[in-house]
Amino acid sequence: MKEQLNHPIFNIVRQAAEELNVKAYVIGGFVRDLLLKRPSKDIDIVVLGNGIETALLTAKLIGKNTKVSVFKNFGTAMLQYKGYEIEFVGARKESYRTDSRKPIVENGTLEDDQNRRDFTINAMAISLNKEDFGQLIDPFNGREDLANKIIRTPLEPNKTYSDDPLRMMRAIRFASQLNFSIEEKSFKAIAENKDRIKIVSQERITDELNKIILSPTPSIGFKLLEKSGLLAIIFPELQKLKGVEIIDGKGHKDNFYHTLQVLDNISQNTSNLWLRWAAILHDIAKPQTKRFDKVHGWTFHGHEDLGAKMVPGIFKRLKLPLDQKMKYVQKLVRLHLRPIALVKDEVSDSAIRRLLYEAGDDIDDLMTLCKADITTKDKSKLQRYLANFEKVEQKLKEVEEKDRLRNWQPPVSGEEIMQIFNIKPSKAVGDLKYAIREAILDGKIPNEKQAALRYLIKKGKEMGLTPKVEINSLLNE
Ligand code: CTP
Repeated sequence: MKEQLNHPIFNIVRQAAEELNVKAYVIGGFVRDLLLKRPSKDIDIVVLGNGIETALLTAKLIGKNTKVSVFKNFGTAMLQYKGYEIEFVGARKESYRTDSRKPIVENGTLEDDQNRRDFTINAMAISLNKEDFGQLIDPFNGREDLANKIIRTPLEPNKTYSDDPLRMMRAIRFASQLNFSIEEKSFKAIAENKDRIKIVSQERITDELNKIILSPTPSIGFKLLEKSGLLAIIFPELQKLKGVEIIDGKGHKDNFYHTLQVLDNISQNTSNLWLRWAAILHDIAKPQTKRFDKVHGWTFHGHEDLGAKMVPGIFKRLKLPLDQKMKYVQKLVRLHLRPIALVKDEVSDSAIRRLLYEAGDDIDDLMTLCKADITTKDKSKLQRYLANFEKVEQKLKEVEEKDRLRNWQPPVSGEEIMQIFNIKPSKAVGDLKYAIREAILDGKIPNEKQAALRYLIKKGKEMGLTPKVEINSLLNE
């Protein structure tokens, strides 16, 4: 492993450890990623002795006024060097109580420190000491597990998961990120301990969930969450999409697996976390809107509107941001049926204009979502849907070039309306603004100031309003 420790920090730590007469090892995620050839910027150093002192001497040897952040309560210290974040900690032994993820910590040996770790692939260490610099210390065969693509715990899995239930999410997250499987007895232990997830803070759970969502094939993680029983606890709305009901021999599709397919599809085209969230939530209201009638079979009328309404509640509970990102997800959920609905008959320009206006700058993301939503296995249907989709894309492009409705503001503002008729802010102003906008979107008048002013004066007249300014000059006539 010696050649792989080519970052200068490792030699500097070696010197510091030698001077202090302690042993130091690089451990955990960095070693795993080194063996996987994945780039990693976080280095954890475990010291048999005082971690803080070792960090301070390392900084001194680096020179250049290197700053060390010391966290006395945790016995850790952190410094930054050449783009890396390096954390030092004394080797520790941990024991847990049943009601908390926070362990009781004592000083320990390297073995104790490796025993307390979550997975064999995360428990490997590499020596930074003179006598065996670069040697891999791998008591649980983590290297073999990496090669066999398997997640295993160093100790009895029930203990590892019960001690720190966040590790259940981490196991599934690593399985999803790395396309690994979870050892059978380990997975069984997750299912048995699932309720202990309740002692973990929502922020940590959501952090792992987002990492699952950002993995190359997120369905791997979601299927494991579902199978273990964790999904029903942490995300019941998604769990409810699972299953097929059959009436009169007619079944609907399983919306859980459909949603996962859409999520995998979209993940091929975007790494935008929020667009991936829109894929997860696009059909979230299907269970509540599901109806069966003898003529039409299964319908889910209004699931896009109800789904959009559910977004804030879900975001709040999951402690996801309640800002523009949530609004964006909400908008995509609400509009996700619109592009495809446009191909039903001859597409009218006005319907296209409306969609452009409502989607604004997010129109491309909406189209990415719609395309991902095509999951039919029927080849001829697939061809037809894709052809329809292209038709809508083409139309959108034409209308956008002609009318430029992205981020469009109607050409007459509320301020101007008040000035022209000399009226105060009121319902009439809103009605007139709305009338102009609708006329342009419907194609009754062109998207131009003069046309809009003429239309405004006509509409005002109908409402008993007369212009109080010299309108001929306004109209350039
Ligand atoms: N660890 C653990 N139990 C946890 C979290 C972390 O045993 N609940 C240990 C593992 O040995 C892990 C190391 O602490 O490798 C560092 O944890 P962290 O930085 O959170 O994760 P990484 O494994 O480095 O992975 P990533 O950076 O992808 O989160």
